Amino acid sequence: MAEGIRRRSWAEPWKVKVVEPVRVTTRAERESALEEAGWNTFLLRSRDVTIDLLTDSGTSAMSAQQWAAMMLGDEAYAGSANFYHMEEAIQTVYGYPHVVPTHQGRAAEHIISKVLISPGDVIPGNMYFTTTRMHQELAGGTFVDVIIDEAHDPDSEHPFKGNVDLDKMRAVIREHGAKRIPYVSLAATVNMAGGQPVSLGNISALHELCRGHGIPIYLDKTRIAENAWFIKLREPGCADKSIREIILEMCSHTEGAWMSAKKDHLVNIGGYLALRDERVFEEARNLVVVYEGLHTYGGMTGRDMEALARGIYESVDHDHLHSRVGQVVYLGEKVAREGVPIVKPIGGHAVFLNARKFLPHLPQDAFPAQRLTGEIYLEGGVRTMERGIVSAGRDMRTGEHNRPALELVRVALPRRVYTQAHMDVTAETVLEAWDRRDAIKGLEMVYEPKYLRFFQARFRPL
Ligand code: F0G
Repeated sequence: MAEGIRRRSWAEPWKVKVVEPVRVTTRAERESALEEAGWNTFLLRSRDVTIDLLTDSGTSAMSAQQWAAMMLGDEAYAGSANFYHMEEAIQTVYGYPHVVPTHQGRAAEHIISKVLISPGDVIPGNMYFTTTRMHQELAGGTFVDVIIDEAHDPDSEHPFKGNVDLDKMRAVIREHGAKRIPYVSLAATVNMAGGQPVSLGNISALHELCRGHGIPIYLDKTRIAENAWFIKLREPGCADKSIREIILEMCSHTEGAWMSAKKDHLVNIGGYLALRDERVFEEARNLVVVYEGLHTYGGMTGRDMEALARGIYESVDHDHLHSRVGQVVYLGEKVAREGVPIVKPIGGHAVFLNARKFLPHLPQDAFPAQRLTGEIYLEGGVRTMERGIVSAGRDMRTGEHNRPALELVRVALPRRVYTQAHMDVTAETVLEAWDRRDAIKGLEMVYEPKYLRFFQARFRPL
């Protein structure tokens, strides 16, 4: 994988201007912090974390240009100049004419779900994402997974594990009828599958199929630049296209998109809907004033919108993506070389450890991935996240655990934050847990919140 990266080493296309000290803790301090956090890494305090790989969301470092842009914040309640800069950047890079700002991605998901979904509707998509599905369900819809089978197999080396299986899509249309399908929920990349991309060919074929049935595609373009990078690297005929050309082509097949700007756009907060359909835009722009704020800020400050506008252009820069994805690959190859089971191919924003294979002696009900996040933290103060049975939640109707095939620990890399030395220490930390894996036991859940339980659930070691 990462054909272009392997032969020649790369250096970060930036240098450090400001540093933030991190605290190194003792094992005893980590033991007590983890117990206090109920073995849930979301409940740790960041001061107790040395290398924070919980998420790539809102954790990236802004550039000097972005920080300078913050001083241009126009904090007007209505009609801020920064909104128009952001709108123009979105129109230019993605080609959607209309923009509705929100404070982050799930707020955009909330609004688009309310606008498009009627109770009883079915929403096919390329694997669920936690907040996306939650909002689809709260709007009365049911999510149906139509991703290719390879996506559920951590060992499959398929280059585009984010692709939609068109036969599964046809079956959903046959079973429910196009009228019950308000849109296809297409993510690029697919977070829960391991940061796996969708191919341009697949998006185009899906568009062709859906157009025949009058079903629009809405894109979760949270990590679209990373997806475009993989298309350039892996898809036949795309090597000579620029990242921006690929992105415009991807978006051209879709009716609209939602965005968590906290990832690809290199800002700490922000999101939006980007739309073509006038009526959907009209309705979304109306709802945003109920839930978020006026339609020219939607929960963001002027300075946030200015930094976001600049982040869009930085996010599609070739050298940025080369080192961004290169760092993920560096970490992934380093642990895989020692035998640690990971999701292949290595994705765009994170290395995903396969907890089923890491801890094969534990049943899924003993929350192996959750336990492993705790063990990695104990080993070296490295914070990661569970992406398995806890994240999958319960079936809304039956109340049973959803049981995903993938039982993973996500090691997510913030953009432009950590160095190769941090990656070396992270790999060594994972390897220490690997060396004593046979002695690692499971967990029991002692507190379970109703919604998105992984954020706040508490556990006890068995
Ligand atoms: N869609 C995808 C693919 C995401 O990864 C996220 C957030 C969202 C939507 C929601 O956006 O957080 O701005 O409200 N993912 C974070 C993560 C939380 O750690 O992967 P948000």
